[in-house]
Amino acid sequence: MAAKRSRLDRFISSKLRVKRGDVRLMLARGIVTVDGITARDIHQQVNEFSTVVCDNTVLQENTARYLMLYKPAGVVSATKDLEHPTVMDLLGGESSSGLHIAGRLDLHSTGLLLLTNNGEWSSALSLPQNNVEKIYRVEVAKPITDDYVTAFAAGMYFAYEDITTRPVTLRIVSEYVAELRLVEGRYHQIKRMFGRFRNPVVSLHRVSIGPVCLDENLQPGESRELTDKEIHLTSF
Ligand code: URA
Repeated sequence: MAAKRSRLDRFISSKLRVKRGDVRLMLARGIVTVDGITARDIHQQVNEFSTVVCDNTVLQENTARYLMLYKPAGVVSATKDLEHPTVMDLLGGESSSGLHIAGRLDLHSTGLLLLTNNGEWSSALSLPQNNVEKIYRVEVAKPITDDYVTAFAAGMYFAYEDITTRPVTLRIVSEYVAELRLVEGRYHQIKRMFGRFRNPVVSLHRVSIGPVCLDENLQPGESRELTDKEIHLTSF
């Protein structure tokens, strides 16, 4: 849940266009609150989601938002699209305002999509060093063999990006169905990996991102706010 931080005295000084010495006096007088608590320390850190009030004037009041959405097939993971409905259309104008997607899914993929207005949080989820595992359930057109398990675990070279994919764990669920665990999200990665076997993906469904699982009570197109626990578990 980390968000961009700054020191309280710097924040107030730039908001009110006053000298930092004057901010010290305000703090000493006890007229500044951060998230409802009187602030006296110039070194206190605030972020874009701290509520800062000075002498009964609200200087900042933004609420961090975190949502999960069950993305249906045929809906684009984008804010605008001329051809298809977008996930923002599903949320509706008011509730999608200021949100962005943390990890897109392709047009025909389904499942868990996370949305937020906290850029630091969404960046942290995709940072390679944070190793956030995503689980997908994939159905393909031709039988899956043990060769796939080996090839996915070894990584595949993608010439276009000049990278080798990090190990992917593939568990064969049935002849045509596998569960995949990935810690990265390259462009069309799963389809391209099965493409090496000339095996088209029939359906692709994201079950989880890190510790957050798609809520079984959601129907395709529905969304809900993340719980405090889910937010806490995805904070770096
Ligand atoms: N890999 C894909 O190929 N498509 C997705 O939607 C997600 C991962």
